[in-house]
Amino acid sequence: MTITSADAMKREAAGRALAHVTSGMRLGLGTGSTAAHFVDLLGVRVREGLDVLCVPTSQRTRAQAQALGIPLTTLDEMPELDLTIDGADEFDARLRLIKGGGGALLREKIVAAASKRMFVIADATKQIETLGAFPLPVEIDCFGARATQLHIERMAHGLGLSGPITRRATASGAPYITDGGHYILDCAFGAIPAPELLAANLVAIPGVVDHGLFIGLASAIFIGGADGVRVICEAA
Ligand code: A5P
Repeated sequence: MTITSADAMKREAAGRALAHVTSGMRLGLGTGSTAAHFVDLLGVRVREGLDVLCVPTSQRTRAQAQALGIPLTTLDEMPELDLTIDGADEFDARLRLIKGGGGALLREKIVAAASKRMFVIADATKQIETLGAFPLPVEIDCFGARATQLHIERMAHGLGLSGPITRRATASGAPYITDGGHYILDCAFGAIPAPELLAANLVAIPGVVDHGLFIGLASAIFIGGADGVRVICEAA
């Protein structure tokens, strides 16, 4: 069978990741259109009797999972998870990711870091050679936002990275506010040859809450393509 739409590829990838979920697991539920396919398929399994307890990474995912009758809790109640399943905006062959296109990067990273394993689900268009074609989302505190942005611009320039940094806005033009009450800056740096270095420099800037570089978190990526699902795993 040849899969033709990106949406069908996302669902196939979600289905393959779901096959690794067993009763008794404590799960983190990601955010975005691919993660929504996973939650949808998980809801079917829960109705059939699968026993899992889940922590959502956003209000959006919480609402979807609640509507499907998936048992939910919080990281305060259950601070360690077995597995998080989430999408990505971009990934490379070393399982490094850019996330945050859906605005949930902070909670996504907290939940992934609380999990023994993170499975990423994505369609094949998300794989790139060098991270950075997707503008890097950086979550910042609202206080002193312009000063923080200036600091990021100067730091990035020092690393040889340039390109517009835009404060994310809603369709009505109002500033986009994350579930945690912060702004997001979308940093269109282009290719990021040293993501680890950029990540370390970003978190050192006062006002930066977190950024969309997920490095060392993904254990496997399920990639939906025209010919089915391919999986890449971290080196043993
Ligand atoms: C949400 O903040 C993001 O990190 C998403 O996981 C990411 O944007 C992937 O979203 P899609 O599955 O909708 O492409």
